[in-house]
Amino acid sequence: MKILVTGGAGYIGSHTVVLLIEAGYEVIVFDNFCNSSRESINRVEKIVGQKITVFEGDIRSRDDLGKVFSSNKIDAVIHFAGLKAVGESVEQPLRYYDNNVNGTVILCEVMEKYNCKSIIFSSSATVYGDPHTTPILESFPTSATNPYGRSKLFIEEILRDLYVSDNDWKVILLRYFNPVGAHNSGTIGEDPNGIPNNLMPFIAQTAVGKREYLSVFGDDYDTPDGTGVRDYIHVVDLAQGHVNALDRLDDFSEVMTINLGTGKGYSVLEMVKAFEKASGKKVPYKIAPRRAGDIATCFADPSYAKEVLDWEAKRGIEEMCEDGWLWQSQNPDGYLTKS
Ligand code: NAD
Ligand code: UFG
Repeated sequence: MKILVTGGAGYIGSHTVVLLIEAGYEVIVFDNFCNSSRESINRVEKIVGQKITVFEGDIRSRDDLGKVFSSNKIDAVIHFAGLKAVGESVEQPLRYYDNNVNGTVILCEVMEKYNCKSIIFSSSATVYGDPHTTPILESFPTSATNPYGRSKLFIEEILRDLYVSDNDWKVILLRYFNPVGAHNSGTIGEDPNGIPNNLMPFIAQTAVGKREYLSVFGDDYDTPDGTGVRDYIHVVDLAQGHVNALDRLDDFSEVMTINLGTGKGYSVLEMVKAFEKASGKKVPYKIAPRRAGDIATCFADPSYAKEVLDWEAKRGIEEMCEDGWLWQSQNPDGYLTKS
């Protein structure tokens, strides 16, 4: 089966490409490299020991997409391409709606034109807003507090509408919790531009000496140690969730909405401790004010993924930190580090 992976050069996409190829799928990567580099593809090629077909293009361009679909019979699309920085989305809402929402509409139009009607979409736990309780079930109400989150909600609805209009579509909406860690080769991983917004890359860069200290955003939440609690999931487990979803795509006769998380929550300070243990490095931190828009606690009930995808996260917090450290210590400057 030939699978088009939009955003396949990015953090989650590159790990998924490795697992897809290892599972025997034929993969084509489509990416405009606005938040990634070709080096990630070179590294993936080394891991899997084969060349990867890459189309450089933008999902908002019918011409770019047409080049792929007219020259390949694509069986399904895994759609990672999108912008993902929450703060930036507040400053540049139109850019986010154009890239994420408009881009997805155009992608689906082109898919339809070429009679490819199977899509797995990267949604996010952010669609649960501030959940009234945890663990979070797929049936919980959804809401969004920023344009990024709203773009995910809109896309979910658009894909549901598409299915209603034509039941030949196969749609799986995967709601990721907090992906962290890296492939255990230490050669691919998360490579944020500039100062990281997310906790794990910030901790990793502090441990490697690139940042002086971590700001812990709030220690007065209603959590065991006062700091925010999240469901961190190893990116390779997350990638495996996509392979399982693809394997079962034809089994489903409705739009599937599925949490991908571990079901366990860890606080910011627990993550700091775990990372210090895995790396043998100190991670200095200071308590700072709460970050606007953050919630106290967010973790998944992952039992539906187990039931319908036969998937569960296998890697614990130690492995997440060890693999994250391997990537960071071997690549202090991300993909700019000479291999
Ligand atoms: P990433 O930025 O590393 O990867 C996204 C890739 O998409 C990049 O390679 C980028 O160059 C590409 N891209 C962006 N816009 C494009 C366009 N218009 N045309 C073609 N390519 C384009 O991000 P990631 O962490 O790998 O996330 C992948 C997906 O998962 C995103 O949709 C993101 O919103 C979603 N997600 C991520 C997280 C997370 O914490 N990392 C959590 C939940 C959901
Ligand atoms: N945090 C700090 N200091 C930092 C960065 C984060 O204390 O420098 C704290 C946050 O306050 C939060 C926790 O670490 O309590 C995790 O924060 P992240 O920014 O790593 O992750 P979020 O849960 O805020 O959001 C991430 C993505 C969203 C996505 C969500 C669920 O950024 O896009 O996970 O998948 F929607």
